[in-house]
Amino acid sequence: METTARQATARHYLMCPPTHFDVTYSINPWMDPGKPTDQSIAMDQWQRIHDQLIDLGHTVDVIPPLEGLPDMVFAANGATVYGDRALVARFRFPERDAESAGYLDWFAAKGLKVRQAALENEGEGDYLAAGPWILAGNGFRTDRRSHVETEEYFGRPVIGLTLVNDKFYHLDTALSALDDRTIMYYPAAFTPGSQGILRELFPDAIIADHDDAEAFGLNAVSDGKHVLMPEGAANLVAQLRAAGFESFGMDVSELLRAGGGVKCCILELHNQV
Ligand code: ARG
Repeated sequence: METTARQATARHYLMCPPTHFDVTYSINPWMDPGKPTDQSIAMDQWQRIHDQLIDLGHTVDVIPPLEGLPDMVFAANGATVYGDRALVARFRFPERDAESAGYLDWFAAKGLKVRQAALENEGEGDYLAAGPWILAGNGFRTDRRSHVETEEYFGRPVIGLTLVNDKFYHLDTALSALDDRTIMYYPAAFTPGSQGILRELFPDAIIADHDDAEAFGLNAVSDGKHVLMPEGAANLVAQLRAAGFESFGMDVSELLRAGGGVKCCILELHNQV
C-alpha cells in the first residue's frame, strides 16, 4: 500500500500539572463527584504525556497550578495563542473562572500581547488550527459570537462548527487536526450543516467511529507525524497507520474522570516568537 511520508515539525506547548486534580463538581457528563479520584495516578499519566512530547523534541513550558482549581490541568482551555498574541479564556462555568487570571499573568510575564475574550471562549478546547483556518466549536462552551472576536484578533479565518452531543462538549473531543490539510473527526458529534462543511473542506479526513469517540481518541495532539492520543481507539489507530502517521496511545483513565484526555492537557503556542 502507498503511504504518505509525514513530516513532523517542532512545536511549542504549554501544560499545567494536575497538582490539585479532583472531581468536586460536574460540568460535563464524564464528571461524577461521587466517585473517588487518585491525584497521584493523574500526575503519573500527565507526566508521561509531558515526557513523550519532550522525547519527540518539542518544547514544553509549564504554568504553575493554582490551588482550588482542579480542572486547571486542562491547559488547552486556558487560551488561544498565535505568534505574539494570546486570547485568554472566558470560561462558561464559574467553577473554572479563576483560571483565566493565571493565564493572563503567565502570558503577560512572557511578554505576549494579552487580552481576555469578551464572550465565553474556552481556548484551544474549541479553537483548533487547521492550515490557514481556525476551526471553532460552539454549542456547549464557547459562544458562537466569540468567533468574530477571535477572527479579528488573529486575522485568521474562523470556521464555525456546531456540536450536538454533550459527551463531546469541546471541539477537541470530536475533532483533531493532524497537519495543515488532514483532520480526523466524529461526524455524529456535529450538526448536519457542520458535517457538510467538514466534508467540503476535508474530503480526505479520517473518520472516527462511535467506539473511537467514546475512547476519547479524537482528543489528540499531532506534530504532523506523531499523534499522541488516548489509548483504545482501535479503528483510528489503524487508519492513522495506513495514512503514514505514528500514533502513541496514552493511558488517561484518571484524567477522563474529569472529561479530559491528551489534547485537553496541552495548549499549543503557535508560531511563537
Ligand atoms: N472538566 C473539564 C471541563 O469540563 C474538562 C476540560 C477538558 N478540556 C478540553 N480541552 N476538552 O471543563
